[in-house]
Amino acid sequence: MGGDERTSGEQEKEEADQGNISEAVSFREKVVALYEKGDASHVLHLMAAATFTPEDRRTTAWDPLLLWVRPGRCCIEAIADHVREGRCGGLASVGCGTGLLEWLVCALTGISVSGYEVNAAWWASRYSPPRFIPLAFVEPDAPPPAVPPSLALMCCYFNNGDAFRKYVDSYDGPAMIIIGSIDKNRHTDPRPLDYAHVHPWTLTHTHPISDTDLIGFYVRDQLKQDVVRRLRM
Ligand SMILES: C[S@@+](CC[C@H](N)C(=O)[O-])C[C@H]1O[C@@H](n2cnc3c(N)ncnc32)[C@H](O)[C@@H]1O
Repeated sequence: MGGDERTSGEQEKEEADQGNISEAVSFREKVVALYEKGDASHVLHLMAAATFTPEDRRTTAWDPLLLWVRPGRCCIEAIADHVREGRCGGLASVGCGTGLLEWLVCALTGISVSGYEVNAAWWASRYSPPRFIPLAFVEPDAPPPAVPPSLALMCCYFNNGDAFRKYVDSYDGPAMIIIGSIDKNRHTDPRPLDYAHVHPWTLTHTHPISDTDLIGFYVRDQLKQDVVRRLRM
């Protein structure tokens, strides 16, 4: 390679950093400092106070590379409730990014969390944002690992519907959570209501994060759950 040895992915991420994050770097530092102190409640307050107005950008602008949504405490509790109601031992989040959302769930509710990501080299590079949970790396072109059935399957602002379907197809557990936008101008795939009519999933309820961001909560149809359980005995 010549002088610039970054991959195109790294270059894209760096451009995103320069466009969005350089002005928000102090915000990111505040979140990291609070994370290191274990102060998840304060991170939620910071998120709630975050703004997108230009005059505030230097100190309080939200940093989208940390997390694509800004959940309130009620959103975190709703996620934890669904994991508990599905009798799951924890939450596995595919395409978790930094894992900030997942860390908030764990720190505020005690639910154990794990996260899957692609592109280990990029996450180890100096261009990557901080990581708030350990990440398990998967090969984007290989069949994804089966998320253990003891865990609830979650995604937040995932961007690859085909890949998500493969995670779902290999998942035998009882509960699924899809977070994303219902605004047609924003790209999330899957969208939160996409599995409402997909066998064997039933959309039990939704919870709004903002006017356009929504959490869709699903359970596997009871009949299928029972069959899977019987076959395992
Ligand atoms: C738009 S980002 C959302 C990140 C994070 N969930 C959030 O809300 O901030 C989508 C993430 O999915 C990851 N991703 C894409 N394909 C994936 C796959 N097959 N398995 C795991 N992660 C994947 C990307 O690397 C990216 O970090």
